Order: sequence, then structure tokens, then C-alpha cells
Amino acid sequence: MKKKIQTAEIADKISVALSNLENSVPRSFKETFTFKGRKSPEIICKVLEVLTNENDVILDPFLGTGMSIIATQRTNRKFFGIELDNYTYAIDKVLFEKIDYKLLASYFKQIEDAVKEKVMYLYETDCCGEKNYIKKVLFDPQNGKEGYYNPSPNREIVDGCNIKLIYKCHKCGSNTKKFEDIDWNKLIQVSKIDVSSFPKDTYLVNSRIGSVNIFV
Ligand SMILES: C[S@@+](CC[C@H](N)C(=O)[O-])C[C@H]1O[C@@H](n2cnc3c(N)ncnc32)[C@H](O)[C@@H]1O
Ligand SMILES: [Zn+2]
Repeated sequence: MKKKIQTAEIADKISVALSNLENSVPRSFKETFTFKGRKSPEIICKVLEVLTNENDVILDPFLGTGMSIIATQRTNRKFFGIELDNYTYAIDKVLFEKIDYKLLASYFKQIEDAVKEKVMYLYETDCCGEKNYIKKVLFDPQNGKEGYYNPSPNREIVDGCNIKLIYKCHKCGSNTKKFEDIDWNKLIQVSKIDVSSFPKDTYLVNSRIGSVNIFV
């Protein structure tokens, strides 16, 4: 015989448990997920405590901000979640997936070994005859070459030095310098690099059309 669920009774219990409880979704999550219907972990904790027991398995088929992940952890429940939207799922994964920091560091090292030298080459400059690298160039893009050599005053440009360097120069002790011919030549050289083989893949589409993502 089917067991009849006493919905009115459950609704009463939930409404008592939630009385005087604000729906205070953490700000960072509010800014990340803009859709309506977000529930704070505190609300979900209360609902879980009314309806379920420790170690129960909880399924949230509309994961959204993933607040149910936080709530199930706080209340010692096991968890499965489903999210349709690729963007939301990808962000949930970034925010909640367990990170193996050693493995992550090894991936960064692999990337560094493969491309760091090539990437740094693009930013190479010199100061007082010593090799250095560009961190930032302040320039007026609308003024062409002149916009690099003589950009309009800006609070970040001190003494006409519109290049910020990655390393402090050993000779002059500064970490800024003026834009010079070496920098213009580098710019021209870099703009001629053949980028036709660069990947054009799109890794993440903010779309509600897609396969359903399962979060475990
Ligand atoms: C109202 S929001 C989530 C509310 C959630 N309680 C929270 O606090 O964020 C609903 C979520 O369900 C997702 N969704 C909608 N239809 C779905 C479906 N058929 N399968 C899986 N997820 C779905 C949406 O993409 C959205 O992220
Ligand atoms: Zn110098």
C-alpha cells in the first residue's frame, strides 16, 4: 500500500522552522548567479532538519547557486545535484569541487614549462641595458605611435614613465620607464606573429540549451 504523504503537516513544520529566518544568500553568490529563487544555506538546513535525517541522501534537481551543497555538508547529509544550464554548472564546479592542489600545481607547472618563455618573450624590454619585462603600458590607443611615446597625463604616469616593469631595474632602482624605440619595435614584431593556428574553441557557453549536468 502506498504511504500517503501528509503535505499539510510537512508544510506546517517547515513554516514553523522557517519563521523569523531571513533569506540571506551570501553576497558573492548573489553577484555570481543573478537568477531569482536563490535560497540561503540556512533555509535549506532548516528544511533538511525537518524532513530528513543525518546521512540521508539528498537530491537537488535544480542546483542553481548550489546552496544545497553547503546545507547538506553542514547537516551531514549525502548529496547529488543536477543542473541544466552549462554556465551555472561550470561555476558550481569551480566553487564546490574538491581541489587536489598538488595536481593543480603540477598542471600549472606543465603550462609554465611549455609556454612561459614564449609568453615572456612578448613582453620583453630593457631598462638601463638590462633585460626586463613589461607589466603594463599606459597609452592613448586613438593616437597611434604618438599615443605610446607621449600619452596624455594620467595619475599612473609619473615623470613620463608610462611602462610598468615586472622587475625592479638593478641599475636605476625603478620599476617604471619611458616608452622607447625598443618597445615600439617589439610591438611591431609581436603584431606580425602568425596567430592563425591559435585555438578558436569555445569552452563555455552561457546557454540553457545543453545536456543536463550531474554534480556528485
Ligand atoms: C531557481 S534556480 C535554483 C534555485 C536554488 N534553490 C538556489 O538556491 O539557487 C533553478 C535552477 O534550476 C535549473 N534548471 C531548470 N530546469 C532544469 C532541469 N530540467 N533540469 C536541471 N536543472 C534545471 C536552472 O538552470 C536554475 O539554475
Ligand atoms: Zn633602469
